Amino acid sequence: MLLRRWIAAGVVAVATVGVLSTVPATAGRPHDPADQSLRALGLRHGLYVGTAVDTAALDDPDDPRYREIVRDEFSSVTAENAMKWESLEPTRGRYDWAAADKIVATAQRNGQRLRGHVLVWHNQLPTWLTDGVADGSIDKAQLRQILRQHITTVVSRYRGKIWQWDVVNEAVSDPWDDPPTLHYKGFWAQHLGPGYVADAFRWARAADPKALLFYNDYNIEAFGSGDPADDKTQFVHDMVRDLLARGVPIDGVGSQGHLGTQYGNFDTFQVADALRRFAKLGLATAFTEVDVRSQLTEGVRAGVPDEINPRLQASAANFHVLLQACLAEPRCLSFTVWGFTDRHSWVPGWFDDPPEGLATLYDENYQPKRAYQTVKADLIFAGPPYVLPRVTPRPRR
Ligand code: G3I
Repeated sequence: MLLRRWIAAGVVAVATVGVLSTVPATAGRPHDPADQSLRALGLRHGLYVGTAVDTAALDDPDDPRYREIVRDEFSSVTAENAMKWESLEPTRGRYDWAAADKIVATAQRNGQRLRGHVLVWHNQLPTWLTDGVADGSIDKAQLRQILRQHITTVVSRYRGKIWQWDVVNEAVSDPWDDPPTLHYKGFWAQHLGPGYVADAFRWARAADPKALLFYNDYNIEAFGSGDPADDKTQFVHDMVRDLLARGVPIDGVGSQGHLGTQYGNFDTFQVADALRRFAKLGLATAFTEVDVRSQLTEGVRAGVPDEINPRLQASAANFHVLLQACLAEPRCLSFTVWGFTDRHSWVPGWFDDPPEGLATLYDENYQPKRAYQTVKADLIFAGPPYVLPRVTPRPRR
């Protein structure tokens, strides 16, 4: 009996040593900063942690810290503006690839994946295109052909280099738009009708058989009433379900994740449920543009801790909700922040009445904020049975 117990204990000890030797060296010492980058921690789950990159910051010789953090902390990058139409083709027929190429080359050097952003959007279009449509010199048939040519040209150039393409961005209205019933909005729907969405995915697929093709939008983190007339998540769900039913090659839905601490937002289970419901359609998901902004009161601007700290805390809590939900859903492939430092964030330039900011993981001096530590802790302490390796769907044909 005693002998049997000793043998059992020996077997357990050997097994334990075996298991421990396969656990990453970092696992037992979460407070040790060595090799605890977000990219390394994310990849333990097969999750790519990404950031949008700003071309000017990446090129700034006086700002080496920006490049170091992009390189060291992230396993995926998105061009914040450099792959948008106005950047790539400012003059009709003359592409300027310099900035986009540089981001692609930098990412390859850093061993990072790329999210391509963005092929079809109603913003940041070149004026030759919008003016041409407005003055009638570009008619509907020509516009469709121009769009096809643009998608084919851009996707072909980066064929095999882009992991996920945001093929169509923000095609759906918001409940505060006029009319409030949700509908296809913006330049492309107005001039080509909603059929452009399916066309865009088909043209992108023809140019790159392997990239994962995403529909990308904001305010789709959680389901609401369930009525597509006023629930944007439901509208997008039904739209992609119908695209799939028609054999359109769409592989994923990107949820941007632009949140604000003044809104309260969601809990983890609501967000996880939304990701699950897209996954049930057979799609990948991703958080593609996460940031959590706060109103900059006079007290915040004056550095009053009682006003700053609750905002930092609330921002961290929102990052936590989105990341936990993503970790819980094996088809959630990447978690991308829309800029990682308050030094380079679109928020202050966009929201000025009242002013908003403090939206990212690092402050303006590249000091990690509470949100950074929370994201890191989430990645460290996640694991089976609730967090499993990622499942990547095969690109649809
Ligand atoms: O390029 C000009 C530059 O020549 C000029 O000197 C400068 C002066 O303001 O403006 C520059 O253009 C700005 C551009 O960013 C590049 O910095 C535009 O004014 C500015 O409007 C533009 O904002 C971008 C915004 O998209 C435009 O819609 C933000 O940087 C970018 O972060 C933001 O990203 C979008 C995603 O693509 C889609 N989802 C929402 C997200 C946030 O709005």
